[in-house]
Amino acid sequence: MAADRSPFIHRRWPYYPPPRLIFWTAVFAALIVFLVFHSPPPDAPPDRRPTAAWGGQGWERRVLASARPRSNSPSHAAGRGHLSVLVTGAAGFVGSHVSLALKHRGDGVVGLDNFNNYYDPSLKRARRRNLDRAGVFVVEGDINDAALLSKLFDIVAFTHVMHLAAQAGVRYAMKNPASYVHSNIAGLVGIFEACKSANPQPSIVWASSSSVYGLNSKVPFSEKDQTDKPASLYAATKKAGEEIAHTYNHIYGLSITGLRFFTVYGPWGRPDMAYYFFTKDILKGKPISIFEGPNHVSVARDFTYIDDIVRGCVASIDTAQESTGSGGKKKGAAQLRVFNLGNTSPVPVSKLVNILEKLLKTRANINVLPIPRNGDVVYTHANISYAMRELHYKPTTDLQTGLKKFVHWYLDFYSGNAKWVP
Ligand SMILES: *[C@@H]1O[C@H](CO)[C@@H](O)[C@H](O)[C@H]1NC(C)=O
Repeated sequence: MAADRSPFIHRRWPYYPPPRLIFWTAVFAALIVFLVFHSPPPDAPPDRRPTAAWGGQGWERRVLASARPRSNSPSHAAGRGHLSVLVTGAAGFVGSHVSLALKHRGDGVVGLDNFNNYYDPSLKRARRRNLDRAGVFVVEGDINDAALLSKLFDIVAFTHVMHLAAQAGVRYAMKNPASYVHSNIAGLVGIFEACKSANPQPSIVWASSSSVYGLNSKVPFSEKDQTDKPASLYAATKKAGEEIAHTYNHIYGLSITGLRFFTVYGPWGRPDMAYYFFTKDILKGKPISIFEGPNHVSVARDFTYIDDIVRGCVASIDTAQESTGSGGKKKGAAQLRVFNLGNTSPVPVSKLVNILEKLLKTRANINVLPIPRNGDVVYTHANISYAMRELHYKPTTDLQTGLKKFVHWYLDFYSGNAKWVP
């Protein structure tokens, strides 16, 4: 109020503003207009909010309780001691299933997830509720948050890290390349840094991808095949991850196992994957597009059911040797492995649609299009003989059986509760 009565203000008004004031007023106005109208476009990059609140005594107690193995867990009985596993991407598709499997057999599990909005985060929250009920606490935070990771390793002597957090999707990489570098490269390095500094160092199992086989034409894909022709930025970041893993294994003695997953599907799956949105679109009567390769070759995938993948993940943890380093130095050579986890039985996508039509009792409205040259490959087929030998991995679910379970879950999940309709 006092300022209003200031003679200074009255004396200066009206007047011609000096040019410099006009200039800065214009700049300020432009800035306001920019901020107001620069709302994110519909294809905005996933929202990577800085870490939600973590820390505090209550939070630490929850982490500790979740990390505590059951004293009669099978890993303990087998003489391997107690396992405490940090699972990143725990609210994700594979992450939530693996977390539950480990918890059910008695291991301690702490989840970590940033709940980004690459796909509907309410599905991630629903998965988290399952984990909560099973006694798995999912920390809300980012793998790029070094302070958070170091805090977690301060509180818990994790024996293993199951690193499944990643930016997935092949075509989305053209819309938001930075998110792939952020999660799959910077995030991976963040995890390895935290693990190499931890005392004791945990053993690491992480998700690579069958997409590293890229433009390879020799099938089935074997781990020994060259993988230097990725067909998407997603594949390139996963391949880079395998090389970065080699470095951390070599320098710091981290025990690292990379898993090349082949088109994983099943209940609680990812809505950005074809089997999932085909189901949604078929039910809505919306046309679906399926791709064919040159000369009308059918696009085929080595679809792998989630329970088979979970068994491969758990077996990787159980066969992982200990890391050998401490204080940032390795004491000896450490284990470094890469496994294909596939189903060894590629199915044409048209056949997938056929099965869905029967399960949903609805005809699909199909457009056949040439496969876009932006990352998708025509054919994937895993050679799993190495995983069979080392992990006793043996997929047991065929596509028909697995899709039946998926559709059953899908109808159940989205029925009756309008807010779940995708
Ligand atoms: C699968 O890979 C193994 C090596 O792990 C190799 O000995 C075998 O010949 C491969 N099988 C095929 C069909 O390529």
